[in-house]
Amino acid sequence: MGKNKLARFAENLGFGHVVQPSFAELMNGGFALRGRWGVDFFKREAPLVLELGCGGGEYTVGLARLFPQRNFLGVDIKGARLWRGARTAKEEGLMNVGFLRTHVDHVLKCFAAQEVDEIWLTFSDPQIGKARKRLTSPLFLDRYKQILKPGGLIHLKTDSPVLYEYTLEQIEAHGLRVHERSAEVYAELLPRVSPEEQAVLSIRTYYERMWLAEGRTIHYLRFDLDEYKGHGQEAAA
Ligand SMILES: C[S@@+](CC[C@H](N)C(=O)[O-])C[C@H]1O[C@@H](n2cnc3c(N)ncnc32)[C@H](O)[C@@H]1O
Repeated sequence: MGKNKLARFAENLGFGHVVQPSFAELMNGGFALRGRWGVDFFKREAPLVLELGCGGGEYTVGLARLFPQRNFLGVDIKGARLWRGARTAKEEGLMNVGFLRTHVDHVLKCFAAQEVDEIWLTFSDPQIGKARKRLTSPLFLDRYKQILKPGGLIHLKTDSPVLYEYTLEQIEAHGLRVHERSAEVYAELLPRVSPEEQAVLSIRTYYERMWLAEGRTIHYLRFDLDEYKGHGQEAAA
């Protein structure tokens, strides 16, 4: 393992705002912060927004700057990546930012029923040929349905037409309500939304910058799961 990665792992351990549940914790009733993120981690009750597969946490940090009255938590399995966001949050003194190093598959072990207000999926892996693993597959929608409050929102920002179209198919199949959709964020969507929404949608992640430099088009979807009946694969612990 590179020296840089080791140094980042070590620094993560010293950050009070980066947590990593052990396998034993996850398997024995769930993470201690489950249901207690407001009181025990952020030290205040406020709407909780997750960025799943956050990488360097650009949305977590960017949204936290824009909305100091909400709590933001970036989730990723790669500690060396989320270190970037954790470091920035510390340098800027952002008290409404945290990072959780774990597999997205463990969301039910980490969040209680209706504990979450919004979920951002930023440039998630489109999992070509493995639809079940996509972060908008019914397997994951079932989980999000359990942890989201009624009316809770899911945001998908992606360069992948496959993931965008697949998510639209799920929305249609399950009769979900779409709050916003655009196959072209910068040319089509930004000119017609409020300045606040422009600021939100203009946050650029590491991967987004890369794809924009390659000339790719960015897609966006915002929907809720209120009408989602699920496919009943998994129940909260
Ligand atoms: C393509 S990157 C996007 C990162 C970041 N959102 C961005 O836009 O720059 C996908 C990220 O999802 C994370 N990831 C993929 N599968 C995951 C899983 N099952 N649990 C947690 N993180 C996962 C990867 O570690 C990676 O950081």
